[in-house]
Amino acid sequence: MQHTDYSAKVIDHFMNPRNMGELENANAVGTVGSPACGDMMDIYLEVEGDEIVDASFKTFGCTAAIANSSMMTEMVKGMSLADAENLKNRDIEEALDGLPPHKIHCSTLAADALHEAIKSYKERVASGAEEGEVAAS
Ligand code: FES
Repeated sequence: MQHTDYSAKVIDHFMNPRNMGELENANAVGTVGSPACGDMMDIYLEVEGDEIVDASFKTFGCTAAIANSSMMTEMVKGMSLADAENLKNRDIEEALDGLPPHKIHCSTLAADALHEAIKSYKERVASGAEEGEVAAS
C-alpha cells in the first residue's frame, strides 16, 4: 500500500485508532457530515463540571478523517470545555504533522463534531437537563 502522502503519525492513528467506538458514559454527542465527500463522524464526550474526562469517536470516513478523530479524542481528554471550544482543525492537523492539501477538508470534521458536542452539552445544561457548570460564553 502506498502511504507517501501521509505523515507517520497519520498512518499510526489510522492503523491503531485511539478511543474508537461509542462511549458508555457519554453525556455529550456531536454528529457532523462532510458536504465535500458525504463522510460522517460521531464524537462522544464524557464531561464532568467544566472538564472533558473521556472522549471517543465513530467515523465513517477516509484515512485522514479517522486519524483526525483519533488524535482529537486524545487531545481533548483532560481539557476544559473552554479550551476544547478553541481547538481548531489546524491544531489537530499540526499534532498529526500535517495533511496533504487535498485532505484538509477531512480535518474540519473532528473539530466541527467536537464543537457540536460541546454546544449540545451546554444547551442541555442551560435547560436543566444536565447537571454541570458551564461558563457563559
Ligand atoms: Fe471524506 Fe476525508 S474524504 S472525510
